[in-house]
Formats: sequence, C-alpha cells, structure tokens
Amino acid sequence: MAKMMPHTHIIGTGSSIPKRILSNKDLEGIVDTTDEWIIQRTGIKERRISVKGERESTTDLTTQASVKAIEMASISPKSLDMIVVGTVTGDRMFPSTACMVQEALNAENAMAFDVSAGCTGFLYALSMADNAIQCGTCKNALVVGVDRLSSVVNWQDRGTCVLLADGAGAVVVTSATEQGGILSTHLKSDGKLWELLYSSDGNNHIPKILQGIDIKPFHLRMDGNRLFKRAVGYLSSIANEALEHNSLTIKDIGLLVPHQANIRIIKAVSKNLYIPMERVYTNIHRYGNTSSASIPIALDEANRENMLSKGDHVLFVSFGAGLTWGASIVRWSI
Ligand code: COA
Repeated sequence: MAKMMPHTHIIGTGSSIPKRILSNKDLEGIVDTTDEWIIQRTGIKERRISVKGERESTTDLTTQASVKAIEMASISPKSLDMIVVGTVTGDRMFPSTACMVQEALNAENAMAFDVSAGCTGFLYALSMADNAIQCGTCKNALVVGVDRLSSVVNWQDRGTCVLLADGAGAVVVTSATEQGGILSTHLKSDGKLWELLYSSDGNNHIPKILQGIDIKPFHLRMDGNRLFKRAVGYLSSIANEALEHNSLTIKDIGLLVPHQANIRIIKAVSKNLYIPMERVYTNIHRYGNTSSASIPIALDEANRENMLSKGDHVLFVSFGAGLTWGASIVRWSI
C-alpha cells in the first residue's frame, strides 16, 4: 500500500517586539523628514527598536516569540526535532541564531540552522520545515522569522531609516495525516538584482536619542524606487502562482498576510489580486518593516485576535534582499 504523505500543520504562533517605540516625530529629530511624509509614503506611524541590556537581542526576541508559540502548541521543547530561523541580523556571525535559541529553550533533540533570504527568510524557513516533515525526517519544527534591522540601518539615510525596525515571530509546525495545513510554498530569487538591497561597510553613527542600540559594522543600502516596482509585480505574480497551483481563486482566501514593507505596496498588491483590504492583515503602522519577522508577527496577531478559523485559507506573500520572494497558502488548522 502506498505510504500517505504527511501534512504540515501550524499548531502554535508567537511573537515578540522590543519595548522602545520610535515615532515619526522622533525621526524628525534624526533626519530631514516629517511625520506626514512617512505616513503618506509608507503608512508607518511608529516602530520598535531594541535596546542593549533589555533582553532584546536577536536571540532574546527569538526565544520569547518561540516560548509563546510552543506554549500554544502544547508541546515540550524536547519534542522539537528541527529549529529553522530566517534572519540576516543574528547576534553573532556564528553560531546560528537557531543554535543559540536551541540552548535557551533546552530543545536538545533538534537540529538547528539559520536561513538567509532577506525579508523572505520566514517563508524560506517554513518551506525547509515543510519539506522535512513531508519527507518524514521531522515531526515537530520551530520556524522563526527575526530581524533587528535597527542594527544595520544608516541613521543618516532618510530613505531607509524611517522604514526599518525590529521584532520576531514564530510558529510551531507538526506532522499530521489530517488534510490541510501548508498546501504549498513557492520560492524565487534573482541574484542579478542584489544591488537593489544589500549590506555595505558602514558608518556607526548612532543618533543621540538612540544611544544604547546595538549597531553592526555595516549598513543597509537600498534603491527604494526600483525595489518598489519589482515588489508589486513579483508579489502579485507569485500569489497567483500559488492560487493556481492549489486550484483556488482569491475568493477562497480568508486572509492575506503580506510582508509589511510599505502600505502602498500592500494596497497595490491587494488591487492586483482583487482582494479587498478588509481581508488583508496590516500592522505596518505600528511596527514598520521588521524584515523576516513581519509575516509571523502579523500571523500571530491575527491568530490571537481570532481572525482565523479552522479551515480558512491564509495566503502569505513576501519579498526581500536577494532579491528573493515567495508565497505560501495554508489551510488553517488551529
Ligand atoms: N522624508 C522626506 N523625504 C524623503 C524621505 C523621507 N524619509 N525619503 C526620501 N525622501 C525624498 C527623496 O529624497 C526624494 O526627494 P527628491 O524628489 O527631492 O529627490 C522624494 O522623497 C521621493 O523619493 P522616492 O525615493 O522617489 O520616494 P518613493 O515614493 O519611492 O518612496 C520609499 C520611497 C523608500 C518609501 C519607497 O520607494 C519604498 O517603500 N520602496 C520599497 C522599499 C522596501 O520595500 N524595502 C524593503 C524591502 S524588504
């Protein structure tokens, strides 16, 4: 008899954000910008910035988000056999954030590694765990998206420092014979476009009101305008690819959870896909762009706000440095 392929179900979600709020008004004191420009051009009103010594390192944020997801999943950390973390801002070059978190969680039976795929890191990580579960090499996995982009921001570049922020989101996935869960994940990259968003040797200028943040020796460079146009096209096409692959239409999607990079990108994608904004989750006004963390934070909030019911289809779409982009459809199982 043919062996049934297991399905990957999300059974827990969690998130963690730093306490320190950086408002648009605060940014007016750092670069030549205005609250009005930032809200109109990006939709961001405030964002969270981690502070050294506040248990808000990449490892700390990841651990806090993971503990919440594990609690919701009602499993023991010892039953995790895989930890995958999507990040580009781990606390150390090595070991991986995943290994640091493995120690913090006492998840001694897991294999742990990081994935570097820019803001698409969470979807890449989710796909790794899904593949391992479908192959039967993994039963329970912890998948995290975390970044502290404040540590690589050029705080003198008004085109980027107003956008980026810190946070972590996590899900626990498990293998089950029941239909549903992750229906498919579609990932792409185009290395020819790496220069649209990359890290460069950087200055370490720290604005006065942000003394105490943890800065890395490089900073982010971005061609925002060109990236914007690519993002809208790629997000729309990969979302349609995922829908077609599963013989679904946009009417079947209960909630679109997009990467939170710019409200204008999100609105353009919602228009292209013909999904009303009422079925699109956004929290960019509160958190800005938290890179790999943006989808799992949004998912955790939607889940805890009871916006998802068992059987609902949830569509994730993301893009980021690489370029990388991707989409995934989940039939909600909690
Ligand atoms: N405050 C005030 N003015 C600003 C500003 C700021 N924070 N940032 C840029 N500007 C200015 C520019 O200098 C430019 O001025 P100029 O016309 O005198 O040269 C003007 O605003 C328009 O700049 P432009 O870059 O064309 O604006 P935009 O409408 O493309 O918006 C972004 C800029 C960055 C908000 C937008 O391009 C974007 O969101 N891109 C995608 C970024 C992204 O998603 N990155 C993450 C990928 S994961």
